[in-house]
Amino acid sequence: MPPLAGKEPFDAGRHTGLAELLADPFNAAGALSDDRQGERAAELARLVRTNESWGQFKTPSLRNVAASAPYMHQGQYATLARVLEHYSTMKDAVGGGHHGETVLKPLELTPAEIDDLAAFLGSLTDEGALERLGPPPRTP
Ligand code: HEM
Repeated sequence: MPPLAGKEPFDAGRHTGLAELLADPFNAAGALSDDRQGERAAELARLVRTNESWGQFKTPSLRNVAASAPYMHQGQYATLARVLEHYSTMKDAVGGGHHGETVLKPLELTPAEIDDLAAFLGSLTDEGALERLGPPPRTP
Protein backbone atom coordinates (compact mmCIF):
# COMPACT_ATOMS: atom_id res chain seq x y z
CA MET A 1 0.00 0.00 0.00
CA PRO A 2 1.42 3.43 -0.86
CA PRO A 3 2.25 5.77 2.01
CA LEU A 4 -0.25 8.48 2.91
CA ALA A 5 1.91 11.10 1.23
CA GLY A 6 -0.05 13.82 2.99
CA LYS A 7 -3.23 13.16 0.98
CA GLU A 8 -5.42 12.18 3.89
CA PRO A 9 -6.26 14.95 6.36
CA PHE A 10 -4.02 14.85 9.42
CA ASP A 11 -5.85 13.37 12.39
CA ALA A 12 -4.82 14.77 15.80
CA GLY A 13 -6.53 11.84 17.54
CA ARG A 14 -7.44 12.31 21.21
CA HIS A 15 -6.79 16.06 21.00
CA THR A 16 -9.58 16.54 18.45
CA GLY A 17 -11.77 13.87 20.03
CA LEU A 18 -11.69 15.58 23.42
CA ALA A 19 -12.71 18.93 21.92
CA GLU A 20 -15.63 17.29 20.11
CA LEU A 21 -16.73 15.39 23.21
CA LEU A 22 -16.57 18.46 25.49
CA ALA A 23 -18.56 20.58 23.00
CA ASP A 24 -21.17 17.90 22.35
CA PRO A 25 -24.64 18.87 23.68
CA PHE A 26 -25.29 15.13 24.09
CA ASN A 27 -22.42 14.69 26.59
CA ALA A 28 -23.32 14.02 30.23
CA ALA A 29 -23.01 17.70 31.21
CA GLY A 30 -24.54 19.02 27.99
CA ALA A 31 -27.76 20.91 27.38
CA LEU A 32 -29.52 17.71 26.35
CA SER A 33 -28.37 15.63 29.33
CA ASP A 34 -30.93 14.61 31.96
CA ASP A 35 -28.21 14.29 34.63
CA ARG A 36 -26.04 17.38 34.30
CA GLN A 37 -24.96 17.27 37.96
CA GLY A 38 -24.29 13.53 37.92
CA GLU A 39 -21.14 11.50 38.29
CA ARG A 40 -20.60 11.15 34.52
CA ALA A 41 -20.90 14.91 34.08
CA ALA A 42 -18.30 15.47 36.84
CA GLU A 43 -15.94 13.06 35.07
CA LEU A 44 -15.95 15.32 32.01
CA ALA A 45 -14.27 18.07 34.03
CA ARG A 46 -11.27 15.77 34.44
CA LEU A 47 -10.79 15.44 30.69
CA VAL A 48 -8.11 17.98 29.89
CA ARG A 49 -6.60 18.62 26.47
CA THR A 50 -2.84 18.89 26.71
CA ASN A 51 -0.01 18.99 24.21
CA GLU A 52 0.50 15.30 24.98
CA SER A 53 -3.01 14.40 23.77
CA TRP A 54 -2.04 15.58 20.29
CA GLY A 55 -1.72 12.53 18.03
CA GLN A 56 -2.68 10.03 20.74
CA PHE A 57 -4.62 6.98 19.60
CA LYS A 58 -5.96 4.10 21.64
CA THR A 59 -3.72 1.08 21.20
CA PRO A 60 -6.04 -1.61 19.82
CA SER A 61 -6.03 -5.18 21.08
CA LEU A 62 -3.85 -7.44 18.98
CA ARG A 63 -6.21 -10.39 19.51
CA ASN A 64 -7.26 -11.68 16.06
CA VAL A 65 -5.18 -8.89 14.48
CA ALA A 66 -4.30 -11.03 11.43
CA ALA A 67 -8.00 -10.99 10.50
CA SER A 68 -8.60 -7.25 10.94
CA ALA A 69 -6.71 -5.52 8.11
CA PRO A 70 -6.24 -2.72 7.30
CA TYR A 71 -4.15 -1.44 10.21
CA MET A 72 -3.52 1.75 12.21
CA HIS A 73 -5.98 4.59 12.77
CA GLN A 74 -6.22 5.58 9.13
CA GLY A 75 -6.07 2.03 7.83
CA GLN A 76 -2.89 3.07 6.11
CA TYR A 77 -1.21 -0.34 6.15
CA ALA A 78 -2.87 -3.15 4.21
CA THR A 79 -0.85 -6.00 5.70
CA LEU A 80 0.86 -6.97 8.93
CA ALA A 81 4.11 -7.21 6.97
CA ARG A 82 3.73 -3.49 6.27
CA VAL A 83 3.09 -2.79 9.98
CA LEU A 84 6.29 -4.64 10.87
CA GLU A 85 8.17 -2.66 8.24
CA HIS A 86 6.78 0.47 9.90
CA TYR A 87 8.17 -0.52 13.31
CA SER A 88 11.42 -1.64 11.73
CA THR A 89 12.17 1.49 9.71
CA MET A 90 9.65 4.18 10.84
CA LYS A 91 9.75 5.23 7.20
CA ASP A 92 6.54 6.85 5.92
CA ALA A 93 5.13 7.00 9.47
CA VAL A 94 2.24 9.44 9.78
CA GLY A 95 3.81 12.60 11.11
CA GLY A 96 2.70 14.40 14.25
CA GLY A 97 2.54 17.81 12.64
CA HIS A 98 4.61 20.17 14.77
CA HIS A 99 4.41 17.66 17.65
CA GLY A 100 6.99 15.21 16.34
CA GLU A 101 6.78 11.65 17.64
CA THR A 102 9.82 10.81 19.74
CA VAL A 103 8.82 7.64 21.58
CA LEU A 104 9.15 5.15 18.73
CA LYS A 105 12.59 4.53 17.25
CA PRO A 106 13.22 2.28 14.23
CA LEU A 107 13.75 -1.25 15.58
CA GLU A 108 15.86 -2.23 12.56
CA LEU A 109 14.53 -5.77 12.71
CA THR A 110 16.39 -8.62 11.03
CA PRO A 111 14.46 -10.83 8.55
CA ALA A 112 14.41 -13.56 11.21
CA GLU A 113 12.95 -11.17 13.81
CA ILE A 114 10.29 -10.03 11.31
CA ASP A 115 9.37 -13.68 10.66
CA ASP A 116 9.16 -14.35 14.41
CA LEU A 117 6.95 -11.30 15.01
CA ALA A 118 4.71 -12.22 12.05
CA ALA A 119 4.36 -15.75 13.47
CA PHE A 120 3.56 -14.32 16.90
CA LEU A 121 0.89 -11.95 15.54
CA GLY A 122 -0.58 -14.84 13.52
CA SER A 123 -0.74 -16.99 16.65
CA LEU A 124 -3.17 -14.50 18.21
CA THR A 125 -5.96 -15.59 15.86
CA ASP A 126 -8.77 -17.60 17.39
CA GLU A 127 -10.64 -19.07 14.42
CA GLY A 128 -13.42 -20.30 16.68
CA ALA A 129 -14.05 -16.79 18.03
CA LEU A 130 -14.12 -15.31 14.52
CA GLU A 131 -16.78 -17.83 13.54
CA ARG A 132 -18.84 -17.06 16.63
CA LEU A 133 -18.57 -13.29 16.18
CA GLY A 134 -19.45 -13.24 12.49
CA PRO A 135 -18.26 -10.63 9.99
CA PRO A 136 -17.39 -7.06 11.07
CA PRO A 137 -20.14 -4.44 10.62
CA ARG A 138 -20.24 -2.73 7.25
CA THR A 139 -19.06 0.85 7.11
CA PRO A 140 -21.28 3.27 5.17
C1 HEM B 1 7.58 -4.96 17.53
C2 HEM B 1 6.81 -4.24 18.32
C3 HEM B 1 5.36 -3.93 17.96
C4 HEM B 1 4.48 -4.65 17.20
C5 HEM B 1 4.68 -5.99 16.49
C6 HEM B 1 3.23 -3.88 17.18
C7 HEM B 1 2.10 -4.25 16.47
C8 HEM B 1 1.04 -3.41 16.22
C9 HEM B 1 -0.03 -3.65 15.28
C10 HEM B 1 -0.19 -4.94 14.45
C11 HEM B 1 -0.84 -2.58 15.29
C12 HEM B 1 -2.10 -2.34 14.43
C13 HEM B 1 -3.31 -2.76 15.19
C14 HEM B 1 -4.59 -2.48 14.39
O1 HEM B 1 -4.64 -1.52 13.60
O2 HEM B 1 -5.55 -3.22 14.59
C15 HEM B 1 -0.31 -1.62 16.25
C16 HEM B 1 -0.86 -0.40 16.53
C17 HEM B 1 -0.43 0.43 17.54
N1 HEM B 1 0.67 0.26 18.33
FE1 HEM B 1 2.04 -1.21 18.08
N2 HEM B 1 3.39 -2.75 17.92
C18 HEM B 1 4.67 -2.73 18.42
C19 HEM B 1 5.23 -1.74 19.22
C20 HEM B 1 4.55 -0.67 19.76
C21 HEM B 1 5.10 0.27 20.72
C22 HEM B 1 6.52 0.21 21.29
C23 HEM B 1 4.11 1.18 20.97
C24 HEM B 1 4.09 2.37 21.91
C25 HEM B 1 5.17 2.95 22.40
C26 HEM B 1 2.95 0.82 20.17
C27 HEM B 1 1.75 1.50 20.14
C28 HEM B 1 0.77 1.31 19.20
C29 HEM B 1 -0.35 2.21 18.99
C30 HEM B 1 -0.65 3.51 19.77
C31 HEM B 1 -1.10 1.67 17.94
C32 HEM B 1 -2.33 2.29 17.29
C33 HEM B 1 -1.80 3.21 16.21
C34 HEM B 1 -2.87 3.79 15.31
O3 HEM B 1 -4.06 3.50 15.50
O4 HEM B 1 -2.50 4.53 14.40
N3 HEM B 1 3.27 -0.30 19.45
N4 HEM B 1 0.84 -2.15 16.79
